[in-house]
Amino acid sequence: MRYLVTGGAGFIGSNIAFALEEERKAKVVVLDDFSSGDFRTLSGFGGDVVAGDILSRDWFGRVGKVDAVFHQAAVVDTTETDQRRMMAVNVDGFRNVLEYALEHGVKRVVYASSAAVYGNSECPMLETQTPTPENVYGFSKAIMDNLAREWAEVHKDMTLVGLRYFNVYGPREYYKGKMASMIFQLYRQMKAGKRPRVFKYGEQTRDFVYVKDLVRANLNALDAERSCVCNAATGRPENFNAVIDALNKGMGTDLAPEYFDNPYGFYQNRTQADLRQAKALLNYRPEWSLADGIADYVKILEKGWK
Ligand SMILES: NC(=O)c1ccc[n+]([C@@H]2O[C@H](COP(=O)([O-])OP(=O)(O)OC[C@H]3O[C@@H](n4cnc5c(N)ncnc54)[C@H](O)[C@@H]3O)[C@@H](O)[C@H]2O)c1
Repeated sequence: MRYLVTGGAGFIGSNIAFALEEERKAKVVVLDDFSSGDFRTLSGFGGDVVAGDILSRDWFGRVGKVDAVFHQAAVVDTTETDQRRMMAVNVDGFRNVLEYALEHGVKRVVYASSAAVYGNSECPMLETQTPTPENVYGFSKAIMDNLAREWAEVHKDMTLVGLRYFNVYGPREYYKGKMASMIFQLYRQMKAGKRPRVFKYGEQTRDFVYVKDLVRANLNALDAERSCVCNAATGRPENFNAVIDALNKGMGTDLAPEYFDNPYGFYQNRTQADLRQAKALLNYRPEWSLADGIADYVKILEKGWK
C-alpha cells in the first residue's frame, strides 16, 4: 500500500507517517510546505517527501496514485486572525486535496477536523450538535466537515472520514513552539526548575489525548465502512492540576503550580468528547489515560528524544 500524508512534517502527520511505515509496512509520501513543520520530525523516515502547498495543483503528478490520504496540513494557530488566510489554506486547501483524490482515483480520505468546532458548548460534545466555533480556526474546521459531507453525498464511491481531535500531546511536537501542547510547555518549565504556570486555579478541564491514540483512530479510519465525522479523544477530561501532578510523578519533581489571572476574554473552560460514534463507526478505543500518557511521554522526553 502507498499513502499520502499531507502536513507530514508536522506533529500529528509525522506520527501517522511513522506508524504507516512501521505497523503497516506501507510506502508513505509526505506533502508539506514546511511552513510550521520541521524536517527533524521526520528523522529516520524511510519514505518520500514532496515539498508543496496544498493550495496549488503542482504536486498532483509528483505524488501520483495512492491508496488513501491522511490530510493533516492546515494553519493550526488558533490565535491567527487573518481570516482569509485561514479559510484559504484550511478549506480551499482541503477542496484541492479532494480534487486530487478524485482525479487520481483515491477512494479514501481521512482528514483532521477539530474540537474547536464546538467552542464553549455543553459537555460531552456530540458530532450531531450544531457547531459553535469561537474563532476562525474552529470555523474553518466546521466548514471542512460540511464540505466533506457534501462531497461524500456526490461522490458515493469515496469514503471521507473526519476526526475531530481534542487536545493532542506527545512525541514530535517539539518544533511547534507556542502551538505545542500545554503538557509539553509545562514539562519545559519544570525541566528548567521553574514552577509550572497555569491560569487560576488550574481547574479548567480538557479532554487531553495522547498522540498514540490519535494514530490508532487514523489507522482505524482505513476500515470505516462509511463517510463520517467522529470525535477523537479519551472521553475523560482532566484538569491542569492533574497534568502537573502527572508531570511531577514522571519527572521525579515536586513543583507546585503558580497560578495567574487568565488574560483572555474567551477561553474554553471545559472540553469533553462523546465517543459513542467513534466507537461504533471506527471501533476506536482510547488506550491511554492522562497519567499513563504523560508517564510514557516523559520517559521519551527524558531520553532526549523529541
Ligand atoms: N495538535 C492538536 O492538538 C490538534 C487539535 C485539533 C486538530 N488538529 C489538527 O491536526 C492537524 C495537524 O496538526 P499538528 O498539531 O500536527 O500541527 P503542525 O503545525 O505540527 O502540522 C501541520 C503541518 O502542515 C504543514 N502545512 C501547513 N500549511 C500547509 C500548506 N499550505 N501546504 C502544505 N503543508 C502545509 C505544516 O508545515 C506542518 O508540517 C491540523 O489539521 C490541525 O488543525 C490538531
